[in-house]
Amino acid sequence: MRTPFIAGNWKMNVTDKEALAFVDAVKDRVPSNEEVESAVCAQALSLKGMTEKAKETDLRIGAQNMHEEDHGAFTGEISAPTLTSIGIDLVIIGHSERREMFNDTDERVNRKLHAALAHGMTPIVCIGEKLEEREASRADEVVRKQLEQALQGVEAEQVKGCVFAYEPVWAIGTGKSSNPEEAGEMARTIRAYIRDQYGHSAAEATRIQYGGSVKPENIAEYLADEDIDGALVGGASIKVDSFLSLLEAAQ
Ligand code: G3P
Repeated sequence: MRTPFIAGNWKMNVTDKEALAFVDAVKDRVPSNEEVESAVCAQALSLKGMTEKAKETDLRIGAQNMHEEDHGAFTGEISAPTLTSIGIDLVIIGHSERREMFNDTDERVNRKLHAALAHGMTPIVCIGEKLEEREASRADEVVRKQLEQALQGVEAEQVKGCVFAYEPVWAIGTGKSSNPEEAGEMARTIRAYIRDQYGHSAAEATRIQYGGSVKPENIAEYLADEDIDGALVGGASIKVDSFLSLLEAAQ
């Protein structure tokens, strides 16, 4: 049995003050992480303060990105050792906005994934097709290729600790969510790929989230699918009540 995992991705939409107030408001109201795992991924500046506030609660705090190298001349970047030194062990890797705007190629996603695993972090690896790729019936092929490249050199035991977020690019922030059947089919494609490459136990252990215009009103339709183990939520994860409703739906 896989524990559902609901993670918020706040992107660049929450100030430090708001982030800290959010943690204060939800930290004692999230379900136990044996029942539902919950996390919010915030801007780097807020991570330390949030982590301190969330200590000894079941709310996880995650980063939205990191650099693949441990240190070096990379002005403005943040490394895995820096994140782990303040207690961050969760990181989103390869979000489509980073792939599109910040040169996160498949190769770089692979390097970041190796760095996260080497530092004992849980990576949420984002994959998903663009609208033109879906319309050309290439969604499966695109997602399989992203998976193959992201996972180059990763061992089956490590794959078990990865979370994959299937986020069709056309459904992100648009209000046009993927229909739950299509999202479920893609989750099965992802799991089948992991089974073929890494074996049955890796496929059964790996959690697959859906992301793209998820909100309290529609999350249950996705979670009803046996291959969708949670959600990566943008806009609807920012407000306290909405975030708690998402978690409630997963209980
Ligand atoms: O990573 C979450 C995401 O890209 C989806 O955003 O606002 O459509 O829930 P949103």
